[in-house]
Amino acid sequence: MAETLPVHAPFRLAPLPWCPEPLTSAAARPLHGAATFQKGKRMNGSKPAVRPARPFFSSGPCAKRPGRTPEAISGALLGRSHRSAAGKAKLKEAIDRTHALLGLPADFRVAIVPASDTGAVEMAMWNLLGPRPVDVFAWESFGQDWVTDTIKQLKLEGHAYSAPYGELPELRLPKDHDAVFVWNGTTSGVRVPDGDWISTDREGITICDATSAAFAMELPWHKLDAVTFSWQKALGGEAAHGMLVLSPRAIERIQTHTPAWPMPKIFRLVKNGQLIEGAFVGETLNTPSMLAVEDYLDTLGWAESIGGLPALIARSQASFRALSKWVRHSKWVDFLARDPSCRSNTSVCLEIIDPAFTRLDEQAQRATVKRFVGMLEEEQAAYDVGGHANAPPGLRVWCGATVNSSDIEALTPWLDWAWAQIWLHA
Ligand SMILES: Cc1ncc(COP(=O)(O)O)c(C=O)c1O
Repeated sequence: MAETLPVHAPFRLAPLPWCPEPLTSAAARPLHGAATFQKGKRMNGSKPAVRPARPFFSSGPCAKRPGRTPEAISGALLGRSHRSAAGKAKLKEAIDRTHALLGLPADFRVAIVPASDTGAVEMAMWNLLGPRPVDVFAWESFGQDWVTDTIKQLKLEGHAYSAPYGELPELRLPKDHDAVFVWNGTTSGVRVPDGDWISTDREGITICDATSAAFAMELPWHKLDAVTFSWQKALGGEAAHGMLVLSPRAIERIQTHTPAWPMPKIFRLVKNGQLIEGAFVGETLNTPSMLAVEDYLDTLGWAESIGGLPALIARSQASFRALSKWVRHSKWVDFLARDPSCRSNTSVCLEIIDPAFTRLDEQAQRATVKRFVGMLEEEQAAYDVGGHANAPPGLRVWCGATVNSSDIEALTPWLDWAWAQIWLHA
């Protein structure tokens, strides 16, 4: 179904790797009934007895941390200036505790920047890219956005390495090139397995969009120079703010390289050739939401209280294992990511392999998924488990640290139930 793009394509704007078949029918309803969903089991259409206690499985904004109540943000500095001593202290605390929780090398710097993860990635690209050829690696829609930025907006020289949904492109990075890539492809559920393909003695810099990986996967910080994420993902914070982590090499590049393009105020990290130090100690470039800051501080506190990064990763893996167990026994879904070493443990993307579904055209498949997701939402059994609009029609279940694995276990019978309903009533 997927079209494979050339693996090593000189910059040319490629279509999204997964190209839908032409739409041939508007039919939304499946063609015939099919009722066998678990190997060896036949669904009888009865509702599971237990609902997930927290049916929040969205891949962004993601579930709030367990046990959170509105009191969590009662200490927010509202109606006060973010530039007051108290405001700056809150922002600096968010930076310092992020640095500690992620276990960053001491000489790495962290800034809170505008426009969520997108803002952080584009700020990194606009400040750092230019002096060297750039290799951009894309295997789903967000990586493809960074290809578009590199080729169409910044008009840089380099190569795009692309792969269809469910696969990774060849990871080949000459050490004198800069690189842009996502660590975890949120819309395909495919992640890079490790950083072995990045040279430790590289001359170029690496820009890594880690928004659905940070706090849920180990990241090899010594291989990464600019890393971005937002609060709304693995820690279940609010959107609007992004975080930009810079290595000393990235900081050196920012201070020594003057980009050839205009730099909007919102992206400016340098003044008179010097890093704007304030950005890394809580003096944000523009006004942040102190409500979102308080919410982030609360979730950092929860992460620290359960044992920090190892505990966050373990929680995500436990949920991923619970979901994987069900997938292995399912007759109607499979992982979109075929290679287990590249499977995301956060944004788990599932393709529907039931022949009654695969024989439908794309429009009918999307309509079927919509009905399925709507049914689960109506039952308050699961919210937001449909795949991303740019991905092949399918399901996506967030298994980041703020989700309880017991809720994933409670979810899976509901997935089987809803799938049975679709076909029993077709
Ligand atoms: C890999 C990746 N990059 C970028 C984004 C955009 O993030 P935001 O909406 O926080 O800017 C997302 C959102 O899901 C993502 O998954």
